[in-house]
Amino acid sequence: MRVLVVYAHPVGTSYCAALKDATLAALGKNGHEIDLLDLYAEDFEPRLSQEERIAYHDIDANRAPVEDYVRRLLKAEGLVLVYPVWNFGFPAILKGYFDRVFLPGVSFELVDGTVVPALRNIRKLAAVTTYGATPLRAFLAGNPPKRLVKRVLRAVIRPGAPVTYLAHYDMNNSTPETRKRFLGRVHERMQRY
Ligand SMILES: Cc1cc2nc3c(=O)[nH]c(=O)nc-3n(C[C@H](O)[C@H](O)[C@H](O)COP(=O)(O)O)c2cc1C
Repeated sequence: MRVLVVYAHPVGTSYCAALKDATLAALGKNGHEIDLLDLYAEDFEPRLSQEERIAYHDIDANRAPVEDYVRRLLKAEGLVLVYPVWNFGFPAILKGYFDRVFLPGVSFELVDGTVVPALRNIRKLAAVTTYGATPLRAFLAGNPPKRLVKRVLRAVIRPGAPVTYLAHYDMNNSTPETRKRFLGRVHERMQRY
């Protein structure tokens, strides 16, 4: 399967970088063809410009400024996101990726005013993430990042496609053991991807 791995962390020595490496190693072992999109390394511009906003609904023109990112997304059969939770959402660079690349005519279509999924090429979605918060705190906040993946992104990929959400909570109190255990879990799940 062709898998697009979208990775968003600014620090090459971070735990998130280790999660990305474990993800790539496990997917590679399983024989998948991987396209790594390292948003920071590629210096992705997250701001939707004035021109892009004006052309947003023009499905013949809207993808022109991000043509190559759209091509990579439409070529993928699996999508894996690796990122930390920041302000109970995606890091800005990843949010900007969705703003600019998940366009009308790319990720969804408006049919009689109703959103219809368009990323039917994506038949598996996974998120690998970390929270500073405990599961309880995240739950009490409504766990927006989990909903974004399990509900919002799920709604634009192939209907019925499985969605895997792997999270290490409570990073503020993590230990080498909890981090190692989670790395192992990510490796194991991604090997079965
Ligand atoms: C800018 C910023 C905002 C953060 N906001 C949250 C938050 O809203 N909820 C949360 O659970 N953790 C939050 N955290 C904690 C990160 O999720 C935590 O630092 C990260 O998961 C640790 O992974 P890393 O060492 O790979 O960066 C935030 C961290 C930063 C730097």
